[in-house]
Amino acid sequence: MSKAASPAPRSGLVTDNLMSLQSFILEEEARYPGATGEFSWIISAISLAAKIIAYKVRHVRLQSIVGSLGELNPQGEVQIKMDVIANEVIMRVLGARPSIAVLGSEEDEEPAILRRGSEGGKYCVLFDPLDGSSNLDTAVGVGTIFTVLRNDPSIPGAIETVCQRGVDQVAAGYVLYGSSTVFVLTTGHGVHMFELDASVGSFMLVKRNLRMPRANKVYSINEAYRDGFPAGYRRYLDWTHSNGYSARYIGSMVADVHRTLINGGVFLYPPTRKHAAGKLRLLYEANPMSLLVEQAGGASTNGTERTLEVKPTELHQRTPVVLGSVDEVKHVQAQFTTRADAWP
Ligand code: AHG
Ligand code: MN
Ligand code: MN
Repeated sequence: MSKAASPAPRSGLVTDNLMSLQSFILEEEARYPGATGEFSWIISAISLAAKIIAYKVRHVRLQSIVGSLGELNPQGEVQIKMDVIANEVIMRVLGARPSIAVLGSEEDEEPAILRRGSEGGKYCVLFDPLDGSSNLDTAVGVGTIFTVLRNDPSIPGAIETVCQRGVDQVAAGYVLYGSSTVFVLTTGHGVHMFELDASVGSFMLVKRNLRMPRANKVYSINEAYRDGFPAGYRRYLDWTHSNGYSARYIGSMVADVHRTLINGGVFLYPPTRKHAAGKLRLLYEANPMSLLVEQAGGASTNGTERTLEVKPTELHQRTPVVLGSVDEVKHVQAQFTTRADAWP
């Protein structure tokens, strides 16, 4: 059946962008005749939470919610007030959605079991409520990262249910609270970008099928840890220093990956002395970002294996990350001839 033409006459006077994230999701939903709309409601809930977080992130000092709580999160990292606030906002907004079985957060040791598959819990959502939060006090870009997984009711335990390979993600995305508030999403059919239009309070479509440049001489890594990197990474850095590369590192994964997605280049977080398996978390940082990068035509590995193929065993397990333009990831991998080149 041909697509219905828009009923409205084209006066040429209405030049506004009329495609919101909500209408985009409903358009996507129409691709699946059996769709129930439950997935759309999840994305809608994430978008609501993101708008609430965006406002608070942009007013941390006015609202006296800057700074830390003096406590550590389950992973031994300093928790700032906005980590807790963003976590609570997402938990409460998503918790109200009847199709969600399990919620897992960087900020909580255990996942929250909301309902069983037999009670309508079709999906699990894992998220990093505030990524790069150590940058918040200095008003540098921070973000929220999320992934949507299917709930398999035949799997009894919540951990086993959410420990799925990245290739099995239903959807993945992030929100960057930067100079603009950007929502980037994939449901497995390309990467699409939305920008928050504060005048109407909606994320509006600004780019369909975003494609990452195949190459760009920019690498993004915290070189302060160089002496602790496995040999292959150190050789790669020496290679970039004599091949005309420039370095860009913000220290918020969402901001560094967004720049890499738009401009091309490569983002790396290798194994270090402090984090022998890398610092970034596989399930709710590396996997969602890797799906987005691959859907935009890029590549992502843990140094020796395609990230999306790694079988997780723990909710907060960490992984090395090398992601970005296909040619740039290849330049990194060219330095790995033995496993010891990529792993401590
Ligand atoms: P989070 O704030 O969610 O803990 O994530 C911080 C991560 C990631 O955003 C960033 O790429 C990395 O930490 C930066 O780590 P270093 O400060 O060690 O470079
Ligand atoms: Mn993070
Ligand atoms: Mn975080």
